[in-house]
Amino acid sequence: METNHKSILITGGAGFIGSHLTRLFVNKYPGTRIVNLDKLTYAGNLENLKDIEKKENYIFVKGDICDAELLKSLFEQYSFDGVLHCAAESHVDRSITDPLAFVNTNVLGTVTLLNAARAGWNGNFEGKLFYHISTDEVYGSLGATGFFTEKTPYDPRSPYSSSKASSDHFVRAYHHTYGIPVIVSNCSNNYGPYHFPEKLIPLCINNIIHSKPLPIYGKGENVRDWLFVEDHVKAIDLIFHKGRIGETYNIGGHNEWKNIDIIRELCKQMDKKLGRPDGTSEKLITFVKDRAGHDLRYAIDPTKLTEELGWKPSLQFEEGLARTIDWYLANEKWLNDVTSGEYMKYYEEMYSGRG
Ligand code: NAD
Ligand code: TYD
Repeated sequence: METNHKSILITGGAGFIGSHLTRLFVNKYPGTRIVNLDKLTYAGNLENLKDIEKKENYIFVKGDICDAELLKSLFEQYSFDGVLHCAAESHVDRSITDPLAFVNTNVLGTVTLLNAARAGWNGNFEGKLFYHISTDEVYGSLGATGFFTEKTPYDPRSPYSSSKASSDHFVRAYHHTYGIPVIVSNCSNNYGPYHFPEKLIPLCINNIIHSKPLPIYGKGENVRDWLFVEDHVKAIDLIFHKGRIGETYNIGGHNEWKNIDIIRELCKQMDKKLGRPDGTSEKLITFVKDRAGHDLRYAIDPTKLTEELGWKPSLQFEEGLARTIDWYLANEKWLNDVTSGEYMKYYEEMYSGRG
């Protein structure tokens, strides 16, 4: 399969979604140069890309999207005609502790990247595309009914979602003001292999393996709409190639779960896979102090993406969850490596005194 792009910059390609996206593009488009720019924060891990690191069309650059000089030289050196912007600080709990880190990378970093694209493309926008990967959290929180559509007004409520909303606005503003060809997609919660174990599902998988408490915020009644990460990156690929310039696409698969139900399903599947008696892992569930400003419910209406581009998710949730658990059980070294040292400090700070 071919893409009309010759040279693509992926930012944040060593993270969770970025590594799946980079793998898909490097393997699917061997004639296209893929440059992965990543700062390798705690969330970035080159182990995530071991299987493609020697591919001829793949280049890794360690660097910060806030570094304007570096971006300028990369645009000069590699003449990018596409940008897939994934780099971000992505964890809501960390944004509550340190909002400025989110302003720096998500807002200033995105604007710095937009400036680099604007200067690099210098008014010649033929065949160019700046694709911004964003979240449904920019729309705020839903009650028991209704869905986020592309027309839902922005109402971000956490420092994370506020920083992402701001970056979305800047991307659209650069389209309207300077004519840069952009597309924005807003996706629901992802899950799957290489998910950093600070997020609900991999954190609980790791804790079940080690028979540690499963910390559920509040009463576990909050609802998230979960999508397997490979389905997300396939949607990005489709939108990147077939989407309309200047448009926004919501990505999600109508797969809503209350946190408590998802953790019960996880416990059930893991007891079977680990050969433990039914009910063993459920005993680890521990209700802890709620997240400040915890959004109640997210749910995406993907009608536009489905009707315009024919996308639909490939996996049922139970199957995706089973594949995810199998991956973590088969990759305990990866899990142990990312949960040593700094992670233990983070875990202590985030969860001690919460119970
Ligand atoms: P992640 O935290 O796993 O990875 C982020 C990556 O960005 C890491 O590799 C990190 O090293 C890199 N990075 C961070 N700051 C950087 C900087 N200043 N310069 C260069 N690289 C930097 O995040 P993720 O979950 O893979 O999310 C990727 C994108 O998708 C984010 O923009 C996020 O807002 C969006 N998103 C995530 C989800 C989800 O459920 N995880 C859902 C919808 C949208
Ligand atoms: P998370 O994976 O952090 O994603 P997001 O906040 O971006 O949706 O959290 C998913 C849900 O799980 C959210 O409602 C918060 C909740 N949660 C817990 O109950 N316990 C935890 O330890 C974590 C990390 C999250």
